Amino acid sequence: MATPTSKRLRAAPVIRNRDPILEVLKRVLPQPSLVLEIASGTGEHATYIAPKLNGVMWQPTEPDPLRRDSIDAWAAELDAAAVLPALELDVMSETWPVRRAHAAVCINMIHVAPWEATVAFFAGLARTLPQDGVVVTYGPYKVDGEHTAPSNARFDRQLKLMNQRWGVRDVAEIERVAWSHGFVLSETVDMPANNKCLVFVHASERAAELLAASPAPEPEPEVGVGDKKPV
Ligand SMILES: C[S@@+](CC[C@H](N)C(=O)[O-])C[C@H]1O[C@@H](n2cnc3c(N)ncnc32)[C@H](O)[C@@H]1O
Repeated sequence: MATPTSKRLRAAPVIRNRDPILEVLKRVLPQPSLVLEIASGTGEHATYIAPKLNGVMWQPTEPDPLRRDSIDAWAAELDAAAVLPALELDVMSETWPVRRAHAAVCINMIHVAPWEATVAFFAGLARTLPQDGVVVTYGPYKVDGEHTAPSNARFDRQLKLMNQRWGVRDVAEIERVAWSHGFVLSETVDMPANNKCLVFVHASERAAELLAASPAPEPEPEVGVGDKKPV
């Protein structure tokens, strides 16, 4: 039988990105709070970040059972009391195992899943987070339909070779789907290695009704040569 040690998986990028992500979360997450993490992967982020936040209980979730075992094994190894046992959650499922949380974090899932997962992600969070609930996503994103670096364009091609339905998404596309579920993009933070954190806030019920009834945000039109400015 595998020992707990052998269950601990490692994802190479975590060492590089965990401190910059921690700095953003320290600033934007409510503390104390219950934070729902979607797509926790190996559990290295959860067990590094949660103990460094003030009064945060961290609920990791992950569809893959081997990764759930890894999350629990890391939590045991590091004695991370702020990290709850990992729960099974595929964002595509209609019912989520967590009914309420104050905030949500999702690191590097949106580009490694079909677009429908992003839609389901915000639909599920609309059911789970209260008014003013904060959502933070981290990953590579396009801006105005363009990659922000050649390395992101290469990564996008590699993703699509692995699965045609994966790929680096555009901030405006994510903003639109978030908006349709009552989340407003409140901040975009540039992160190392051409990644970004997107910070969303769950609007009040009344504001969400108004959002749903109004058109989604459009990217700013570019003013080209010959365009006339209104006088
Ligand atoms: C690139 S890994 C990132 C894991 C971890 N957050 C990290 O940054 O190391 C992508 C993760 O997304 C998860 N994932 C993919 N599709 C998902 C879905 N529909 N619902 C929830 N998680 C999903 C995978 O199981 C995997 O753990």
